[in-house]
Amino acid sequence: MAPVTEILPAEPTGFDRAAQILREGGLVAFPTETVYGLGADAANDRAVARIFEAKGRPRFNPLIVHVESAASVRRFVEWPYLADRLAGVFWPGPLTLVLPLRPQSGLSALVTAGLPSLAVRVPAHPVAQALLRRFGGPVAAPSANPSGRISPTLPEHVRAGLSGRIEAIVDGGACGVGVESTIIGLTGAPVLLRPGGLPVRVIEEALGETLAMPEPGGPHSAPGQMASHYAPRVPVRLDAKTRREGEVLLGFGPVECDLNLSAAGDLVEAAANLFAHLHRLEARGAPIAVSPIPDSGLGRAINDRLQRAAAPRGEH
Ligand code: TXA
Ligand code: MG
Repeated sequence: MAPVTEILPAEPTGFDRAAQILREGGLVAFPTETVYGLGADAANDRAVARIFEAKGRPRFNPLIVHVESAASVRRFVEWPYLADRLAGVFWPGPLTLVLPLRPQSGLSALVTAGLPSLAVRVPAHPVAQALLRRFGGPVAAPSANPSGRISPTLPEHVRAGLSGRIEAIVDGGACGVGVESTIIGLTGAPVLLRPGGLPVRVIEEALGETLAMPEPGGPHSAPGQMASHYAPRVPVRLDAKTRREGEVLLGFGPVECDLNLSAAGDLVEAAANLFAHLHRLEARGAPIAVSPIPDSGLGRAINDRLQRAAAPRGEH
């Protein structure tokens, strides 16, 4: 799968190569002013699934989509007045906004982990800007560290953690800010979802109001777990060997079913299809049965999400 990791120079030849790798569905680590991000084409399900595989993430957390300018964000999200105000002052920069996702965004459902909101950011780092312009589309990028390790601020950190698991690293030296972007939720009243590189005080000054803090114990209470997760409106039954009367079957492997996560039993393909298939089956209104999924590699993250989807309401 992932070949020898190329180290690309932060100059036009390197940006061209990095953009080409992204177009081909590969993974490219690149510097932003906060930390190094691990980028993939946000419209390519399989490429986004590979982010989770490379990081060894046991969960599908939603990802931040990076774009070159505020103007290019509006095809993906609703754009309330407060977004305009914050973006006008702080973009490009270390600020991420969570906004209502537009239905025909064209983004992989894995980017938002099936949620109806999208995290977007316009990074200021010249290397990130150059890469986004060359690529010409949205780039999904979590911090470029293996799951459970701290965020990388130097190309050597990325190499130590992810070498051999990603196609390339653009070497742009040290990241200036060194902590992740501040995340503000704007799907309702403005709320601080994650403190970060942009101080809360200056955001509140620009907003002219105080930011609400996430409710303790609520869906946004723990860093890294801030998004409440996707839950289908229909019952979900796991480990289903066969389809019962009235159910639709979400298959895995060589089974007769309504939709198959991966007939070949490929976990990257299954992860890439997971949320889109669940949404499609949910729309039919019948209870969903799901074939057993092996609990290794990406299978752990797939099973984690399926278990939450199957939990009785209120236990999410
Ligand atoms: O500075 C940064 O933000 C870096 C650089 C690479 O841009 N990225 C970064 O990504 O820190 P990551 O994946 O490590 O953290 C993103 C955070 C996660 O905690 C995730 O839960 C939250 O953003 N997030 C993403 N989409 C969300 C959504 N729709 N609603 C709420 N939280 C969301
Ligand atoms: Mg991170």
